[in-house]
Amino acid sequence: MKQQIVKLLKSAGGDFVSGQLISEKLNVSRAAIWKYMNALKEEGYEIESVSRKGYRLIESADVLTSSEVEKYLTATSIGRNLVYFKTIGSTNDEAKRIAFDTVNGTVVVSEEQTNGRGRLGRVWSSPIGKGIWMSVVLKPDIIPEKVSRITLIGAAAVCKALQEMGVDAKIKWPNDLLLSKKKLCGILTEMSAELNHVNYIVMGIGINVNIELEEYPEELRDIATSLKIATGEDFNRQELMARILNNLERLYTEFIEKDDMSESIRVCKENSLLIGEKVFLIERGGKREVKVIDIDEAGELIVINENGEMETIISGEVSVRGF
Ligand code: BTN
Repeated sequence: MKQQIVKLLKSAGGDFVSGQLISEKLNVSRAAIWKYMNALKEEGYEIESVSRKGYRLIESADVLTSSEVEKYLTATSIGRNLVYFKTIGSTNDEAKRIAFDTVNGTVVVSEEQTNGRGRLGRVWSSPIGKGIWMSVVLKPDIIPEKVSRITLIGAAAVCKALQEMGVDAKIKWPNDLLLSKKKLCGILTEMSAELNHVNYIVMGIGINVNIELEEYPEELRDIATSLKIATGEDFNRQELMARILNNLERLYTEFIEKDDMSESIRVCKENSLLIGEKVFLIERGGKREVKVIDIDEAGELIVINENGEMETIISGEVSVRGF
């Protein structure tokens, strides 16, 4: 209902909308409208109310609701069903909970996560209103072996969206984006699959947008960054989120419909942090040092191993010397 009220106020283009009209159009009592208006003010919307005139929207809030994100959204499926929370444990957990019953392209987003998860059981710090903490539900008709490619498509989509907003981030294959060698964005892809069939994929994307350095716990200050810390400017989270979804839809559709990952791979290669570097591959049995020479057309990492032989790495954790 709050979203419908916001839409109605917006459609008035800054003019007053009477309580009577809202009540008739949305079939709610005047008392209920008053309560919703107060709730919207709490969320950060600036709404003027004048007796006998009604309500007028002065300024929208910095929230990631569908009515705010959709003004930047050109994607036709990804993000059109947006499930919004002010607070939640983890958007990935919620996306997995609803995945079977929801449509392809559903996005779960929350202003805050109280149990945000990273890879390898790490904690993902997700302060309220300061980042984009979202999970995209995808239902591709592909074999499970190809799922790791979707993460790369996600990384390319985030990279392109950031470039469109003037930020050149580096991709640390396969799931991180960094600025000045510090982590800006992480992707956590989870799936439910049978032997030869993917039921669903949940791609969780976390981007540190307007977090200040002091807001990070001491132990994260040397390894994490945000767009605000790196540029000194506040970023429009709604626009960034929509741009990521717009790029994701395009790159994902090319992959699903034409088996074409060329643009995603090009973006990952052009902005790669790893190509040309000596890195540690972290594997079950320990870690070993290799030199990265390329990313192939399937999104796999091509390395020269400790014996001077060429190897292809399909997925995994990589740590880079020095950071
Ligand atoms: C990593 O770098 O280890 C991955 C971090 C992924 C964080 C995102 S935030 C939205 C979604 N919900 C979660 O609990 N995690 C992902």
